[in-house]
Amino acid sequence: MMNRIAGKNIVMGMTGGIACYKAVDLISRLKKAGAEVDVILTEAAQEFITPLTVQTMAKSPCHVDMFKPIDSFNPEHISLAKKADLIVIAPATANVIGKIANGIADDFLTTVLMASRSKILIAPAMNTYMYTNPIFQENLKKLESLNYELIKPETGLLACGDEGVGKLEEPAKIMEYIDYLLTEKDLDGKKVVVTAGPTEESIDPVRFITNKSSGKMGYEIAREAKARGAETILISGKTNLDAPVGVHRVNVQTTVEMLNAIEEYFDSCDLLIKAAAPADYRVQNTSDKKIKKTDENLNITLVENPDIAKHFGEKKGNRFIIGFAAETDSFIENAKKKIEKKNLNFIVLNDVTKEGAGFNADTNIVTIINMLGEEKKFPKMSKREVAKVILDEYLLELKK
Ligand SMILES: Cc1cc2nc3c(=O)[nH]c(=O)nc-3n(C[C@H](O)[C@H](O)[C@H](O)COP(=O)(O)O)c2cc1C
Repeated sequence: MMNRIAGKNIVMGMTGGIACYKAVDLISRLKKAGAEVDVILTEAAQEFITPLTVQTMAKSPCHVDMFKPIDSFNPEHISLAKKADLIVIAPATANVIGKIANGIADDFLTTVLMASRSKILIAPAMNTYMYTNPIFQENLKKLESLNYELIKPETGLLACGDEGVGKLEEPAKIMEYIDYLLTEKDLDGKKVVVTAGPTEESIDPVRFITNKSSGKMGYEIAREAKARGAETILISGKTNLDAPVGVHRVNVQTTVEMLNAIEEYFDSCDLLIKAAAPADYRVQNTSDKKIKKTDENLNITLVENPDIAKHFGEKKGNRFIIGFAAETDSFIENAKKKIEKKNLNFIVLNDVTKEGAGFNADTNIVTIINMLGEEKKFPKMSKREVAKVILDEYLLELKK
């Protein structure tokens, strides 16, 4: 994850539920991302987790008692409330949500919340019957209408043995939400379509032709665009990746399906980023039965797929289009030709022969080339950082 969390002051409230054990992982992730973390435990939370564990993970004293402050000169509930860039309550019990919704401030955590002007992110966790209780649901709705940020719990087997909604969202997803909340919304009002991953072209019902694209680059672009406030549509071939939080994902299989899916969103979009690796060819005659093995060679005729980049380049209008080129030779020349031929605003070139670049890696090494042939080379970066650079470059080009 790229680091907008580093150096931020996160105040984390933990309340009395089994999921406290899972929330310790969230503290660990926040620390690894470079945040300052102050944790407040309710009395009930201390039945599930000890202040010792929490403060060792947070590397700062754990707050448990309003009337025994650590710094005796300042009322701590006020100083913590003022210091927070963001307050996260994970896990949040039905009880604490009921208290917040009704203006109760009878312990350290709820008093800090009452005094706070920062964003508050609440991650509930509880038994399904508690979660679906109409009183609890009314409280949640009230918080939603008052602009509290809520992370819905997951559905699954709960610690109490019941099955249903109520599991604390995974710490990795909560981190993504925190990243979203801490990111400046400089793409607010923009609609961004991102394509990602490989496409598959069937040979028969069990075999297909595909390529080595992992989809990681496109997914990171979609994550970054969403975090910066864009309405983001991710058109994705088959990958092992979860859709980034808040991104609308459309799953496709073939290149033709990918083209048709883009078509649906193209007219209303501001920016199309083509990070997918759609297959250039498809099988001419797909067999509807599994092809049997024989002692003969098997010849398969491939026919050309429509050229997605060219198709949308031709009907570009005032939209902005960014392409990718994964080249293995004649990099710059090929990239420049592609910009012209496909009517792109700029192209992101990666040399897939370099270690740490291209398919499957978590990092990439890119050069951005614009319509005027100007080149900007970037060092090896995480794919999320590359995503940031691409969207920064988009905003810069818009201002020209
Ligand atoms: C074993 C056990 C597990 C509990 N798990 C939860 C839970 O996951 N969610 C919840 O809302 N309450 C849970 N409770 C109930 C809360 O601990 C109780 O409502 C408490 O008053 C919450 O206090 P707090 O909100 O100040 O932390 C659990 C209680 C016990 C004994």
